Amino acid sequence: MPDPATRRLELARQVRELGDWFHNIDLGGVRTAPHHFLGDYPGFQWRRLRPALPTDLSGRSVLDMGCNAGFFSIEMKRLGADRVVGIDHDPRYLAQARLAAEVSGVEIEFLELSVYDVARLGQRFDIVLFMGVLYHLRHPLLALDLIHEHAADDLFVCQTLERGSRAIEHTAVDYSFGTKDIFEQSGYPRLHFVEHRYAGDPTNWWIPNRACTEAMLRSAGFDITERPSDEIYVCRRRETEPGGSRTPITPSPVPRSP
Ligand SMILES: C[S@@+](CC[C@H](N)C(=O)[O-])C[C@H]1O[C@@H](n2cnc3c(N)ncnc32)[C@H](O)[C@@H]1O
Repeated sequence: MPDPATRRLELARQVRELGDWFHNIDLGGVRTAPHHFLGDYPGFQWRRLRPALPTDLSGRSVLDMGCNAGFFSIEMKRLGADRVVGIDHDPRYLAQARLAAEVSGVEIEFLELSVYDVARLGQRFDIVLFMGVLYHLRHPLLALDLIHEHAADDLFVCQTLERGSRAIEHTAVDYSFGTKDIFEQSGYPRLHFVEHRYAGDPTNWWIPNRACTEAMLRSAGFDITERPSDEIYVCRRRETEPGGSRTPITPSPVPRSP
């Protein structure tokens, strides 16, 4: 058994060898991304989300989609989840996640899988985390529909980058063909298309405003029950009619955090 200082040096070497980390995780005293451009990420995001989750996840299954280096998967396990599966399409991140889980002493299944292939898991999960992935997708509504159809059973947590107005325009169920001014309202649902890159990242495709995130979630069959902070939505899966409209005609107001 190596002494703690030797173990830390060895860990620091393993962390370095796995490339640049997006998740800043404390692995036995070794920080994986101490100079993260967002600060203590995802620690600060977790502190916002955690109060909105059940305190004890025993007996529950969790799917962490776009799990990256597994920060949220590990926290789900720490809350007592029976089974946690993390999927990501990038094997470099999955290698980081496997090291992070091993050092943290938790058992998590990490699989190389695209969110579009979620049906291949062949099961639903009590809790699905979809943190920081939506705006990286070229087909965001397709992904939400697939999650609703194949993966989500109850709780669905979605976090997305948002830009544009934070206002929510009250929209009618229908408008006449001649109505044009509604589209000028800043609180009308808008999905901003990124043709080239945003923040230097060519994988940023569609950035919604807040009204758009909420409308897309409802439309995909997820009722928003809580918004613990900007850009984070805790939802419940709603059963939907095949082929029917998925948005209830009078969406219930979303409880806002102060
Ligand atoms: C901004 S990071 C968010 C990571 C983590 N969920 C979080 O909130 O900190 C986006 C992650 O989604 C993954 N990702 C992007 N597109 C994906 C796809 N089509 N299928 C699976 N993973 C994807 C990326 O590899 C990356 O790990």
